[in-house]
Amino acid sequence: MAFLKENVLLVDDDVHILELLQRHLQALDYHTFKAVSVREAVTILKDTKIDVLITDLNMPEIDGFELLKFTAEHYPNMGKLVITGFPSIQDSLTVIQSGVVEYLTKPFTKQELIEALHKTLAQNTSASKTIKNHVEVDEPYGDIIGKSKGIKHVIQLIERVKNNKATVFISGESGTGKELVARSIHYQGQFSRGPFIAVNCGAIPENLLEAELFGYVKGAFTGADTNRNGFFQAANGGTIFLDEIGNASLAVQSRLLRVLQEKEVVKVGSQKAEKIDLRIITATNSNLKEMIKNQTFRDDLYYRLTVVEIYVPPLRDRKEDIAHLAEKFLYKYGLEYKDRLIKMDTNVLPILERYAWPGNIRELENILQRAIILSDKLVTVDALPESLKYNISFSDSDFVPLKEMEKQYILKVLHACNQNKTKASEILQINRKTLREKLK
Ligand SMILES: Nc1ncnc2c1ncn2[C@@H]1O[C@H](COP(=O)(O)OP(=O)(O)OP(=O)(O)O)[C@@H](O)[C@H]1O
Ligand SMILES: [Mg+2]
Repeated sequence: MAFLKENVLLVDDDVHILELLQRHLQALDYHTFKAVSVREAVTILKDTKIDVLITDLNMPEIDGFELLKFTAEHYPNMGKLVITGFPSIQDSLTVIQSGVVEYLTKPFTKQELIEALHKTLAQNTSASKTIKNHVEVDEPYGDIIGKSKGIKHVIQLIERVKNNKATVFISGESGTGKELVARSIHYQGQFSRGPFIAVNCGAIPENLLEAELFGYVKGAFTGADTNRNGFFQAANGGTIFLDEIGNASLAVQSRLLRVLQEKEVVKVGSQKAEKIDLRIITATNSNLKEMIKNQTFRDDLYYRLTVVEIYVPPLRDRKEDIAHLAEKFLYKYGLEYKDRLIKMDTNVLPILERYAWPGNIRELENILQRAIILSDKLVTVDALPESLKYNISFSDSDFVPLKEMEKQYILKVLHACNQNKTKASEILQINRKTLREKLK
């Protein structure tokens, strides 16, 4: 089998050009991916490591310029080559500004194409080499977005555990990305070909959980009319992710302990142990230490589950990630709901950054999703929920100037009384004139 060279993504709304490019490149053993729209191209980019992008500029819906901007941001090391019909001077300038060096006009010969591709590749390898010499690579880690210290630390821990089967315990508030971290451990590591099975122990009725997890034999209980495997057997060779482990009954806990100690499972109603080899990741946002005190969680199990602990910090402790996350969600839901790229008004981000995000990334995602549905091309402050605009929580680590606090408080009160200044001044015990002055 021939060894395939680089992955090349071809983007053009003209399928004939796509076929032509593909034929030329495949003849030279390049591995090609085709997309007839920017939308499709983005989907491919998400799942595949692309070395070179070859794109047309004028396309309906979203044009090649947007794709270049997007890739310059998210895949700075990817080679980019533009092929287009009639470029205007303005077009050429924009393209050059987005970091593209090679530019080919239609029609082109096979030889011209190959030369341009080689030049692009040469540029690209030197670019990625320089990056690799730096200790930290500033690219997204799988699906995990964020450049804060907190998220970098999480990524470092994932790197440590991804290639071994050490049991991992993930803690963190609701919506911080615990499941995403679990998936990343599995999919970034060397056992990624094995299954990844996520089980929410809180969503399965307590009396069924044991049988669902470990399987059962015929006659184990009424209704057990056949032998059945559970999630553990299904996850063999890969990873099982047990979310909300605090919901596991003591019976489930003791079976789980056996898996960890003896590397074997016993089906409900059976005596026979089956060997099993998998990685166990658990997560919870309940307080297991408290449960140990109340004797609802086994301490011997706790210590075996927490071989490696990964704490995912809440969003309010890594506010610098908000801009990056927001951008991702704008992109994702912009394409999904509006078939286009949606931007945020400049005053939206500061509001997002000062909110405390009790629901963390999931809350941010939901709020932006809703805002995009309500917006046209631009997400403005109006599309944000009222609570976000006025309900400012000052955590004890946030020191704000008194004036700022006063301002926010006045706005909050005004909001609460539907902008009725008479009422607001009554509550604030200042006269209307003072209120008007302060509002200025
Ligand atoms: N760093 C991140 N980058 C991109 N997306 C993220 C990040 N963290 C979380 N998300 C997204 O936020 C949503 C919530 O994440 P996830 O389900 O992993 O949270 P969780 O901690 O398991 O929450 P819960 O405790 O409620 O189960 C998901 O859609 C996930 O993809
Ligand atoms: Mg979860």
